[in-house]
Amino acid sequence: MSIAFTLFLAYALGLSVALGRAGHRSRAPQVPVAARGPISRVLIIGATGGTGRELVRQALERGYAVTVLARSPAKLRIEHPQLTVRRGDVLDDTAVDAVVRGHDAVLSALGHRRYVGPTRILSNGTRHIVRAMQAHGVRRFICETSLGIGDSAGRMGLYYTFFVIPVVLPFYFWDKTRQERVIASSDLDWVIVRPGVLTDSAARGRYHHGHRVGSYVTTVHISRADVAAFMLEQLTSDTYVRTAPGVSW
Ligand SMILES: NC(=O)c1ccc[n+]([C@@H]2O[C@H](COP(=O)([O-])OP(=O)(O)OC[C@H]3O[C@@H](n4cnc5c(N)ncnc54)[C@H](OP(=O)(O)O)[C@@H]3O)[C@@H](O)[C@H]2O)c1
Repeated sequence: MSIAFTLFLAYALGLSVALGRAGHRSRAPQVPVAARGPISRVLIIGATGGTGRELVRQALERGYAVTVLARSPAKLRIEHPQLTVRRGDVLDDTAVDAVVRGHDAVLSALGHRRYVGPTRILSNGTRHIVRAMQAHGVRRFICETSLGIGDSAGRMGLYYTFFVIPVVLPFYFWDKTRQERVIASSDLDWVIVRPGVLTDSAARGRYHHGHRVGSYVTTVHISRADVAAFMLEQLTSDTYVRTAPGVSW
């Protein structure tokens, strides 16, 4: 084995360990969740993306009144009498503060494609959401991150642990650990949802969820439609509150 290859393996393994330590680690027993009121008005962040669009579609199907904060509302391409679209950027804390007010819960499928170089888009955007929720007494926050960090480190499989994350996504994943810490250090009733690799295929309606989801060897997948369904379930279930379940087929 060449020195360069050995050094790369050490880097990839070290990064995985660091992502494990830096991301959220669910601890038992869980703090009891305070009684919550009915949830009828939800705000969706990242609604013009793959998971976000599924969240909007399924939330409307389930009868929620939905607001979205979108940089480019035209990209949403969904019209519904129960849907309100607000133009805005999650990095603008004033815009976030204004849109969070009056909702019962927030769901976030925030993501981006700026993979090269350090970034704080996910963590700063999420900090604005958490701050606004605390300011306006909105308690339930369901946020999509990813398998591969915190106590799910390595569970995206070998290909992601030793190639995709260390080569393509190191800064992106590092920001996800900061994003998770922003959420976990809040007193909100949060659930961090960590999917495997996302697909655009149809919902299967059957998937694994919990704290041991994923594989250290093979790449695990799940459709954005199934992730959205699982996230919406967390609005009314207390099973995973203040923990970070994985989801995969
Ligand atoms: N791809 C995978 O295999 C995979 C696996 C596990 C986890 N994940 C994670 O799952 C999440 C969702 O991924 P996805 O592929 O379904 O979504 P996506 O298509 O990447 O969409 C991301 C959404 O975030 C929005 N956004 C980005 N920056 C914003 C800003 N400054 N203000 C407001 N909105 C902003 C985007 O809006 P615009 O339309 O304006 O850009 C878009 O609506 C991401 O965090 C991703 O990392 C992905």
